[in-house]
Parts: sequence; structure tokens; C-alpha cells
Amino acid sequence: MSMIISRIKEIVSESFKHDNSGHDWNHIKRVYDMACFIQEKEGGNLEIIQLAALLHDISDHKLNGGILNKGGEVAYEILMDLNYAESKANQIKLIIDAVSFKGAKVADEMPSLEGKIVQDADRLDAIGAIGIARAFAYGSAKNQPMYNPLLLPNLHDNFENYANAKTTTINHFHEKLLLLKDRLHTATARKMGEERHAFLKNYIQQFEIEWNFNTL
Ligand code: ADP
Ligand code: NI
Repeated sequence: MSMIISRIKEIVSESFKHDNSGHDWNHIKRVYDMACFIQEKEGGNLEIIQLAALLHDISDHKLNGGILNKGGEVAYEILMDLNYAESKANQIKLIIDAVSFKGAKVADEMPSLEGKIVQDADRLDAIGAIGIARAFAYGSAKNQPMYNPLLLPNLHDNFENYANAKTTTINHFHEKLLLLKDRLHTATARKMGEERHAFLKNYIQQFEIEWNFNTL
């Protein structure tokens, strides 16, 4: 492993040690491993992919007090402090600026293949069994209700409204998680996503059956 990757790994694993919102070091590690797997099939510059995967949540709006689009800048500064090449640091910044989901009706604008691979890996970790666990972990870290059938899902058309919305964890499935399969970029990720999406859909169906069980 190159010096820069192992140094960034150290910095990131240290800063994600105490997270309980589904954005802990294990999430970063899974995104890194999945991105490497996708790169093997789809190509793209491995070093850029690895660094962007490691740094992709370094200052996410959900965890930094609500500041949108700060992660790219923070990642850029970390890389520059380690004397990393400016043009590559800039490519990584652009990926991190674009990586987050910004609303059901907001189109993704990922500038590079490397970015598409990192975004695919991040999104695969949001669906399937682990994705479900992460959503509930996030909901509980934010003190968000699990479900309220009176609160309907909202398909947001801008990032600010999406980021500031009060929602429930079950609504988050309809506002984001169930939409991800059609927003994966690479064939490799789409294939991996099928089973995870089906699992998610079954889960929601079963949740509704149990919720609606009543005799009154
Ligand atoms: P992104 O940058 O696209 O939001 P992240 O890796 O930061 O991706 O993590 C997103 C994950 O955080 C979601 O997939 C979900 O598990 C969780 N999450 C975000 N918002 C909510 C919410 N309102 N309710 C439940 N889970 C949420
Ligand atoms: Ni992430």
C-alpha cells in the first residue's frame, strides 16, 4: 500500500472511531473495499478511487452541524498538508463535493469515472441488510421517529430542503434508499445492487404488514 493511502487511512480511522450514526470506520472501510472491487472490473485510477473512498465522508453535512459541501475542501486541505499533488487533490475534491445524495428529484452530477465508482460503492452500503441497519442507527443517533404513517415521504427537489427535512426512518427508504438502484452508474454496481434492493423492498413490505396488523 502506498504511503499516502496508509497515512490517510490512519487519519480517517482515527476521526471516525466514535461514530454511532452508521458512518463509522467500518462504513468507510466497506466503501473502500467495494470501490476497489468495482475498479477491478470497470477501470479508473485506483489511487484516486481509494483516496476519495477513504475521505468521502470526512466532513459530511449530516455530521458536521449541517454545513453543505464542506467535505471536498477538508479533504483537499488534508491532502495538501501531506504534500500530495494539487491536480489529483483537486480531482478528489470534486468527487467528494458531488458524492452525497441531494434529493430524490436532484440529478447526480458526478464528473469522473473514479467518482462514479466511489458513489456506487457508497450507495451499495446504503442498501441491503447493512443499509437497513445503518438507516436505523442514523435515525436513533438523530432522535428521529422510526415511523409515522401520518408523515408522508417527500421527494425533495433541492439539497437544502432534503438536508433540513424532518422525516422518519421508514420515510427515508422512500425518499432515498429505494431509489438508489436506478441511480447506480456502473454495470458492476447495478448487478451487486439487485439483491440488496430486493432485500430492502421485502423488508419494507414486511414492516407494513406487521404495522397494519390490528384487530380494531
Ligand atoms: P450520502 O452522503 O449519500 O448521504 P452517506 O454515506 O453519508 O451517504 O450515508 C447515508 C446514510 O445515512 C443513508 O443511506 C442512511 O443509512 C443514513 N441516513 C441519512 N439520512 C437519514 C434519515 N433521515 N433517516 C435514516 N437514515 C438516514
Ligand atoms: Ni458514506
